[in-house]
Amino acid sequence: MTLLEKIGSQQSRLGGTAVYDWDYLVQEHRAHRLIYTDPAIFETEMTNIFGGTWVYLAHESEILHENDFITRRMGLRPLIVVRDGVGKIRALYNRCTHRGTTLCRWEKGNTKSFQCPYHGWNFLNTGKLRGVPWPEGYAEDMRDPKYNMAQLPRVESYRGFIFGTLNIDALPLVEHLGAIAPMIEEWLNRNPGGKVVVCEANRFRFKGNWKLAYDNCCDGYHVAYSHRSLLETENRFAGENAKGMAYYRNSPDTQPMYMRYTSHGNHFKDKRPNLEKRPGGLWALESAHPGMEHYEAEFIRRYGDRAFELLDLAGSEPVNINVFPNFSLLGNHIQVFEPISVGETNAIWYGTMIVDDGRIGDAVQDINALRMRTQEGFPNFGEVDDIANFEQIQRGLMAPEDEWIYMHRGLGVPDRIKQQEDGSITAPATDEAFMREHLKEWKRLMKTRPNLAIQREP
Ligand code: FES
Ligand SMILES: [Fe+2]
Repeated sequence: MTLLEKIGSQQSRLGGTAVYDWDYLVQEHRAHRLIYTDPAIFETEMTNIFGGTWVYLAHESEILHENDFITRRMGLRPLIVVRDGVGKIRALYNRCTHRGTTLCRWEKGNTKSFQCPYHGWNFLNTGKLRGVPWPEGYAEDMRDPKYNMAQLPRVESYRGFIFGTLNIDALPLVEHLGAIAPMIEEWLNRNPGGKVVVCEANRFRFKGNWKLAYDNCCDGYHVAYSHRSLLETENRFAGENAKGMAYYRNSPDTQPMYMRYTSHGNHFKDKRPNLEKRPGGLWALESAHPGMEHYEAEFIRRYGDRAFELLDLAGSEPVNINVFPNFSLLGNHIQVFEPISVGETNAIWYGTMIVDDGRIGDAVQDINALRMRTQEGFPNFGEVDDIANFEQIQRGLMAPEDEWIYMHRGLGVPDRIKQQEDGSITAPATDEAFMREHLKEWKRLMKTRPNLAIQREP
């Protein structure tokens, strides 16, 4: 039995945002500056989007054992994502039910219970209130479930990626992911055992709206310009062999790479068709890093014929797989966007390691050591360029009279955008179709009144 508490069953301030004309603010070819700058719209997003749809929370490898926990956020809600004593994954509100202080101040750890630092109320990692100091001071029975921690009513994993939502009517996660799910599978399945383990992260914070990052994550139009210095660095010693993202340099739309929009705001950019299909084809693209020649020579010495196949496991996979609103697989990274306010966002890049499935043995350490080097390059070095642009966009959008941004690249150009049999849309790499589509999903979510609830242990 679960106890659900419905949210927003009476008219709330959020209802006030009905005064916005969403169809005016987001049109087919342009979007209004207010969707990036208006605090009331941001507040509604934190409920309708970062509450009303599936939001990425954490990876199962971060809470591998019973009683492991990690602290995260879903929109502005502080959460403790925990694997309880019987292995069930829960997302508890990191908020004491007594007077509301942050209950757990640690980033991660292993515990069966959380003790509030303020007055010492103690909660099991199922969220249940275990006891309070000097209970005789309460006239009431403190076992009332209303004192148990709030938690998300829906938490589901897909191949190790944990998502949560407050929306009790949300589709099952795998249905919601739809045609993007096989892309996530492929990203995983190139690794031994079809899995990754999440390591530490490179953390950025920028002064801009969270959507600026999502608008960029499938954008192939900016690369040759925004990342020019990175492309030049990657190709400085490359001679005729184009390295890194060099395929963006000259008319990228004639390259075999493409973008695809699937559903629910999800999209991906597939740059794999640009690669040579041979062992070492991916590795050949890696730009020079300090010590790389030495590593490569050592791989050939140690692993002989298998060396290039193994080196490919250290190379950055050239795909961008984006799940609206806050999750992106890029290269070998998991990128997560965390809104802080209408004009401030965290962009966190989690590195990943591979594990041995019994077939690669000791090579796994060599691959992971090299993988760390490649993860120091793109996309982390690209992110600084992107963030500079996000901050400058936010500044530009503060000019009230100049109201619109345009996203119509590709729109109306004959034969450019293709509707696929599975309902997805494909277009050349620099097309803005992905942005038009995810902003339609954004608009749909902002217009609906989602059926939200929290849950407490009975
Ligand atoms: S606020 Fe947690 S015990 Fe008082
Ligand atoms: Fe970029």
